Amino acid sequence: MAISAPDYSGPSLDLSEEHEFIQRAARDFARKEIAPIAPEFDESGEFPMETIKKMGEMGFMGIEIPEEYGGAGLDTMAYVLAMIEIAKADVSHSTIMSVNNSLYCHAIYKVGTEEQKQKYLIPVASGEKVGAYSLTEPMSGSDAGTMKSRAVLSDDGAHYVINGTKSWVTSGPVADFVILFTMTDPEQKHKGITAFLIDTDKPGFIRGKKEPKLGIRASATSELYFENYKCPVENVLGEVGKGFTIAMAVLDAGRIGIASQALGVAEAAYEAAVMYARERHAFGQPIGSFQMIQQKIADMKTRIEASRFLIYNAALAKMKSKDSGGRYTTEASMAKLFASETAMFVTHAAVQIHGGMGYSKELPLERYFRDAKITEIYEGTSEIQRLVIARNELGLR
Ligand code: CAA
Repeated sequence: MAISAPDYSGPSLDLSEEHEFIQRAARDFARKEIAPIAPEFDESGEFPMETIKKMGEMGFMGIEIPEEYGGAGLDTMAYVLAMIEIAKADVSHSTIMSVNNSLYCHAIYKVGTEEQKQKYLIPVASGEKVGAYSLTEPMSGSDAGTMKSRAVLSDDGAHYVINGTKSWVTSGPVADFVILFTMTDPEQKHKGITAFLIDTDKPGFIRGKKEPKLGIRASATSELYFENYKCPVENVLGEVGKGFTIAMAVLDAGRIGIASQALGVAEAAYEAAVMYARERHAFGQPIGSFQMIQQKIADMKTRIEASRFLIYNAALAKMKSKDSGGRYTTEASMAKLFASETAMFVTHAAVQIHGGMGYSKELPLERYFRDAKITEIYEGTSEIQRLVIARNELGLR
């Protein structure tokens, strides 16, 4: 009897025809264009510019941005479904996609001026250019409000002079534009942070070395240095002093994307584990007939489906917030927390089920395991997600 992978059509939540279409398009693209090259890009650590450009042509780099601004004009459910499929083939590609869509494009669409949208949103949402988001600094990660970089208004009021070091910037080594969060009034603490649109081809902008990483090796990450970088006042994104609120609100959207990529890699590892548990024999029977393997399969599947519901729930909350203006912070944090811990649980169990083959670079299991780890760290660690959820539930600040 031929053994085939379990069919992953998802839970019984009805998707519209449009959603099924984008899911299928992303799945076909990911299988054909990304999965075959993922191992070699993981090995070399090279940035997969060619496939990222193709993803732009498919509309995957600005899914929720209206067509008039270069995007695909779809909704958050479409974004989530596409992200799951891309991550299933390769988490690195999905990381680049996630930052471009939900941190960079989303921020400019939400608070940018018309001029800013024309210059900084259209080329990035259409995938011609790459966008990055820069909040973290060497001494300011989870405690994002304590940054040391500074932007000082020039005497003639025409531009800000920016100095400082930012770190862990996804796509930092290749980005054409960066949304930078920096301090314009340190005395005001988080209320003194402002967001700026940065052109990376201007003097005073310097890229640091590419970080050598455990996983998502094809998604380039680096420090960025600002040395007397002159930023025109027109490039303030949103209001002066509102940068921290923008950064946090945008991270709510970003966290839904990270949750989706975590689910994608968990699904990939799970499907491989089920196949292997059916095929591999030990002690005269398929290893899937042993209860210790069955327990792992049951827990993997249950956590995967629970993640999917939390992600869909967060996507629906974000879509509703478009009209109500309300926040979906808790929903986004719950989805990210649970899905990222599920990705670690599932990839760990999948490696274990594969035994030595799970540890071998002949199969993608070890890559899934290495790639999954970052989802518990970036865009807010699991500890920060728990803090956010608990504070909101308890009404604390
Ligand atoms: N939406 C809108 N506003 C928000 C908000 C949200 N989700 N969360 C907080 N705010 C606002 C608050 O209302 C408050 O505003 P006012 O002062 O005007 O009332 C202000 O922000 C400060 O809020 P807090 O007092 O809660 O701030 P805090 O200093 O205690 O920090 C935190 C809260 C949750 C710990 C926050 O700092 C945080 O999320 N830290 C993690 C940062 C993070 O995720 N970093 C990842 C960077 S991106 C990345 O990973 C790299 C990449 O390229 C992918």
